Amino acid sequence: MPVKTVTVRVPAKVNLQLSVGPREADGYHNLVTVFQAISIFDEVTVSLREPNSGISISISGDHTHGVPADSNNLAVKATELIASEYDLDVDVHIDIKKSIPVAGGMAGGSADAAATIVAIDYLFSLGMNREEMSEIAAQLGSDVPFMLSGGTAIGTGHGEQLTPALSRGVYHWVLALSTVGLTTPAVYDECDRLRAGSEIAEPQTHEVLMQALLAADPKTVGASMSNDLQAAACSLRPALRLVLDVGQEYGALGALVSGSGPTVAFLVADEEAGLDLAVALTASGVVGSVARAYGPVGGAKVLA
Ligand code: C5P
Repeated sequence: MPVKTVTVRVPAKVNLQLSVGPREADGYHNLVTVFQAISIFDEVTVSLREPNSGISISISGDHTHGVPADSNNLAVKATELIASEYDLDVDVHIDIKKSIPVAGGMAGGSADAAATIVAIDYLFSLGMNREEMSEIAAQLGSDVPFMLSGGTAIGTGHGEQLTPALSRGVYHWVLALSTVGLTTPAVYDECDRLRAGSEIAEPQTHEVLMQALLAADPKTVGASMSNDLQAAACSLRPALRLVLDVGQEYGALGALVSGSGPTVAFLVADEEAGLDLAVALTASGVVGSVARAYGPVGGAKVLA
């Protein structure tokens, strides 16, 4: 009997490095980034509907505020794109159970798009290979290809050109979440504004960071993490500086704004240190809520 419904689980990401070059003619910035997929997951369930009923979507879970439940959702766009490229009639319902913060710099929307690609491929037995999926993914957003692969990877170009990175060990994270998100284009615009008039180097891979990942050395990873969008996110949301300070004061190995923010990611030595820091951050009153996670984890995957 053909399968009628499928659920795909997909992780969030943090950027251990995000080096942003100047804005190019296409409006995007060339960048070098190191992605790590972490253990906060959305679940995307795609179910077949009656012929000619089209695509519908519902959102449930911990983080639903601000997620479009219409054709603006990247999961719907992913479905439409595959339908058009593979000349398919696609009548499906998409349900997204969200745990990844919305507009938080953790690629929540991109993750859902990646999960949808995997789900549609499975449901319609398209037999897409990794390259075909990545090509669809890159058309939907710069972070979408990474959410297919997960693990640890270096992203270049707009972030969509991936090379797997050699990483050993498990990394433990505490995440300070904000109730109100930041939009990615606004943060890139602010980055350009803050850097106007200064010489901007072409981004390079941070060798100390790469060596530390290879050596399973969280202390050096923590000390060498960097994000060129951090100043812009803090400029738009000054309270983030306080959050970064509090985390460092309480012994995080490293602290940085994740992607375009406003989530702040703290790398900690182990699970116990994570629990201590989560308690301290909550008690400090400077963060809305905290989450704990570990990485790297795999990318979008059909749940058995
Ligand atoms: O690729 P994605 O749709 O996720 O990008 C969202 C926005 O982030 C873009 O419209 C652009 O303003 C900005 N961006 C950028 N340079 C990149 C990636 C994203 O300027 N490399």
